[in-house]
Amino acid sequence: MSSSSTTSAAEPTLDSSSSSKIECAIHPSETPPTQAQIDIVRYTWERVSEIHLDTDNPTVSATHAFGLAFYDALFKLDPSLKPLFTNIFQQARALAGMVSYIARAPNVTGPNKPQSTTSQNESHINKLERVPTIREINAKKRKETNATTFQELVCSVATNHSTKAENDEEGDSERLLYKLRELGARHYFYNVEPRYLALVGPAVLSALKIRLGKEFLPEVAEAWTRAHAYAAYHMKIGLESQAAWEQGRQKSATAKINSYSKNPHHNIASCSSKERNG
Ligand code: HEM
Repeated sequence: MSSSSTTSAAEPTLDSSSSSKIECAIHPSETPPTQAQIDIVRYTWERVSEIHLDTDNPTVSATHAFGLAFYDALFKLDPSLKPLFTNIFQQARALAGMVSYIARAPNVTGPNKPQSTTSQNESHINKLERVPTIREINAKKRKETNATTFQELVCSVATNHSTKAENDEEGDSERLLYKLRELGARHYFYNVEPRYLALVGPAVLSALKIRLGKEFLPEVAEAWTRAHAYAAYHMKIGLESQAAWEQGRQKSATAKINSYSKNPHHNIASCSSKERNG
């Protein structure tokens, strides 16, 4: 992949005070998140699903409250995006899907390999391995640390992990990359323009900041920024390829129509010549 096409992710300007600022665009970047950053994204998502604020509607789940904060921030960044999400179910589906790709949820990146089959008759049935949930992965990894709070957990992951800019524990990079490009291509049909992809990151960060309060650490912001920018990079490639393909298809359809309208007797001539020849 050419690095000349890489735009680096804007690092959000953050400090631990409430006056911290979030840039309003995080550009797609080819640099993958480190394993530590993926772990932090997953721990954060679990933490977000636990936090209830006093201001929350008591009938609304913590995850739903995050969704409300996210769409609020997204539509503030660009109100023209509202018509893309025509109802709340669609919003929920898009958000759940988005988080699962950014957090590399196992159902997106998991092994998904067929299990060994017991007989020849069954060989056509691909039984899929059960993939662990994000919570299960977190529980397993958490045992490796002595951290008792979210803050301690994030700091321990950030300081103990290798800083290699690659996914060194999960052999999913290739598969994820293709799935992200396919996802980007599907977004063409949701009327998403490539430039919108840079807005999701800041909206996510803004929602995290509201929901996590003091636990919105710089390491958390950095991890989500990197993971989002990487997902957006490959989605953009898929989205732009789909758009180019659709444009080409439209052009060739228009060219065909034009050639027929320039020669309206095209079909008649060939029929009559057939008659004559017959
Ligand atoms: C990193 C960026 C994004 C990721 C990972 C992502 C992920 C997803 C996923 C997984 C879905 C579920 C449907 C499917 O799998 O095809 C979805 C749906 C959708 N997304 Fe995104 N998305 C991103 C950015 C955006 C942006 C920037 C917009 C528009 C501003 C957008 C608008 C939509 C819409 C309208 C749907 C359709 C919902 C429905 O009809 O069910 N997405 N997205």
